[in-house]
Amino acid sequence: MGYLAEEVGYPFNQIPMEAYISFAGGTEGWGSMCGSLIAPIQLIGMVAEGEEKSAMINELMAFYTKHPFPEYQTGEFDLPKVAVNSTLCHVSVTRWMDESGMGPRGSAERKARCAGVVADVCKFTAQMLNDYVDGKFKAGEFTAPSVAGECMACHGDNVKPFAFGKESCTDCHEDHR
Ligand code: HEC
Ligand code: HEC
Repeated sequence: MGYLAEEVGYPFNQIPMEAYISFAGGTEGWGSMCGSLIAPIQLIGMVAEGEEKSAMINELMAFYTKHPFPEYQTGEFDLPKVAVNSTLCHVSVTRWMDESGMGPRGSAERKARCAGVVADVCKFTAQMLNDYVDGKFKAGEFTAPSVAGECMACHGDNVKPFAFGKESCTDCHEDHR
């Protein structure tokens, strides 16, 4: 967003970057949706519309769950790359700390990892938007976990208790099928 403000100017230079700081830590440390996704989702919504906008945002969310973060490394550490199967900050950070053996949350390694996440998400978004502008964007390289569709076939509209979502249901629920 800051880069666009410098390169393109209006309307991106009208948005105070301070507005995004509170999304760190899944919004002020609540561990909700990973803050690296917020600005890219907003940016996609600022340049695309309709079905392609939704497709790109779905692609980004699914990419986040499947990409072994952090591909981008600052060079200070050799950080293990872990796919986290969720877009939630709590799950993302905790699973990475578990599998890498690094942490705690305040450690320099964890901070470098999340900086790498931001870089990877921005790179993916920029590449996707460039493809979109060139008329080359194709949806479907990354998709929501198939288990979500299988569970939602009942719990979406047909069977109580009703639920909704595209995250990996079996991360939190037992598969009772
Ligand atoms: C064939 C339809 C069907 C599918 C597919 C299905 N469910 Fe269910 N699910 C039910 C029904 C019916 C109940 C209610 C059972 C009851 O009340 O004893 C239920 C209950 C539940 C409950 C609440 C009770 C409990 O067991 O904790 C959860 C949570 C749940 N399902 C999650 C899932 C998840 C996750 C998936 C996919 C892995 C899934 N369901 C797939 C039909 C389905
Ligand atoms: C990050 C964890 C998480 C994920 C992922 C998740 N759920 Fe849940 N789900 C919960 C929590 C927490 C509740 C509320 C507490 C409860 O009832 O178990 C809940 C409630 C439910 C209920 C109602 C259970 C009841 O007893 O009334 C169903 C059905 C359900 N989820 C299905 C799904 C399906 C289908 C998916 C995938 C599309 C999914 N959940 C993904 C955490 C999750």
